[in-house]
Amino acid sequence: MTSPDWLESWSTEEGGRRVRALFAEAFDGAAPDGVWSAPGRVNLIGEHTDYNAGLALPIALPHRTYVALRRRDDDVVRLVSAQAPGETWTTRLGDVAPGAVSGWGAYVAGVAWALAEAGHKLPGFDAVVDSCVPFGAGLSSSAALECAFAVALDEVAGLGLAGDDAGRAELAAACVRAENEIAGAPTGGMDQAASLRCSAGHALLVDCRPGLSALESATRVPFDLEAAGLRLLVVDTRAEHQLVDGQYAARRAACEQAAELLELGSLREIPADGLPEALDALAPHDPDGVLRRRVQHVVTEIERTAQVVDLVRDGRVDEVGPLMLASHTSLRVDYEVSARELDLVVDAATGAGALGARMTGGGFGGSAIALVRESDVEAVVAAVQAAFDDAGLRAPGFLLAPPSDPAS
Ligand code: GLA
Repeated sequence: MTSPDWLESWSTEEGGRRVRALFAEAFDGAAPDGVWSAPGRVNLIGEHTDYNAGLALPIALPHRTYVALRRRDDDVVRLVSAQAPGETWTTRLGDVAPGAVSGWGAYVAGVAWALAEAGHKLPGFDAVVDSCVPFGAGLSSSAALECAFAVALDEVAGLGLAGDDAGRAELAAACVRAENEIAGAPTGGMDQAASLRCSAGHALLVDCRPGLSALESATRVPFDLEAAGLRLLVVDTRAEHQLVDGQYAARRAACEQAAELLELGSLREIPADGLPEALDALAPHDPDGVLRRRVQHVVTEIERTAQVVDLVRDGRVDEVGPLMLASHTSLRVDYEVSARELDLVVDAATGAGALGARMTGGGFGGSAIALVRESDVEAVVAAVQAAFDDAGLRAPGFLLAPPSDPAS
């Protein structure tokens, strides 16, 4: 079998060098005002809970999206991406509105639009982007793009928000609006919170209940895998992953419908021990049992996330495996967002000794994670590769995910 395809991250020097060179090439030899970057993320547990006012537990990846940007004196935006060579994406800030822009630049222009909507004054800008966050792999390449621009614009416009966590929560909110209202993807807020508010050596407990202060809405939980002799292995299945195709929106709509039928503000209001009663109340409105399964996933997943946080805080990271597996089963059976490739990773990884494994992110393809003893990494990688090979699937990509730094 061929050697595994490791998806390496870049050092900040390497990322900076790349975007400075691309900036000079794209904009007549000019130098940018600066370079900023933001990470992709993996979620340890708490999937499809963020838009249900629930809990999630992401970490930032060492893989980042880099931006070189220079402010302009007018309101023109010109964008060039190493991933779309030869094209310049252009708009005027005044022309950005829901439904008015499309393509990858919408994620960027959307951030500027959302910051302006929040009352901040922003200049136009020329910018280039390059990234080592695997694209379309469920590792939040879009949040990394938004958040890199959020910290860049924060600095060139002198907003001063990136300097503390409350300001970063505000930047994250602008990025969510950009994604929901301008890019048109109805996602929750976990990815942007992770990219802007995580810290190295920590997981971020994201609590999406409305009305919480910045401090309450995201708490850092020490997550020292190395000290526990563990590694978090991420497998990019390379199965197509698409959040704007309607399936994600359908899950979200089902949850909202169930909450409405139960006369609740959100599914978060159902306590774990109140689940049977809530399911009984839904039954008459739910002949095919779809709402039942969706609610069952959300309520049990929030409970599992709280249990994982307790174990991690207790120094018992090596005991979270069964909760990861239960999360995967719930996402596969009740929420119906897994894919054959994701199930294959989970089975192969646990068969080769992983303590736990699960799909991560939105699902329908994308990536899975496995919690693995350091000494077992090689065997788990080989087992996943062999399983894909036997199934006639394209070889997956691998990366290791030490909890890394936020956007800066
Ligand atoms: C995607 C969305 C997030 C979250 C996850 C599922 O990553 O962007 O907001 O809903 O799916 O947990």
